Amino acid sequence: MSRPELSDSTKSLVASTVPILAEQGVAITRRMYERLFSSHPELQALFTGSPDDQADRLANAVQAYAENIHDLSPLVPVVTSIAEKHVGASVDPSYYGIVGEELLGAMVDVLGELPVDIVNAWSEAYDFLAGLFIEIEAELSAAA
Ligand code: HEM
Repeated sequence: MSRPELSDSTKSLVASTVPILAEQGVAITRRMYERLFSSHPELQALFTGSPDDQADRLANAVQAYAENIHDLSPLVPVVTSIAEKHVGASVDPSYYGIVGEELLGAMVDVLGELPVDIVNAWSEAYDFLAGLFIEIEAELSAAA
């Protein structure tokens, strides 16, 4: 699977949201899970931890992604360990689009209408990360 690299301007727009994420990241990911479990209640069964812990972990991951967007290499071990959790929980590639939509929706719910270039940059950056997870998870599943 080939993934187009993110452009420098996309990376800079994502990096510019780090201060907002530091303040509102957990509110955003809590809202994401509310939206997700309301639009797709069947996905709730995948999650074993408490929703608040899950929201904290996702917020940390999103924040780390934005902070390291210009050079993702320090995140390789973290991404691999999350991918292992996803494989263990039977996360299907088709779920990524659903979560991406609810994450972007949650950003707007919490932060209000955002500049379109910020929304587009995050949408691209999410798709890039989702593509990475899907690829690693396919390799892990094939090796299992
Ligand atoms: C780019 C998108 C995603 C990111 C950044 C992300 C991040 C994370 C993180 C940080 C964890 C915790 C890992 C740990 O405990 O060490 C996790 C676990 C998990 N994620 Fe994701 N995730 C993403 C996409 C998804 C999708 C699309 C699904 C499917 C609905 C999903 C379902 C899960 C489940 C079921 C767990 C394990 C939870 C549990 O054991 O209760 N994730 N993810």
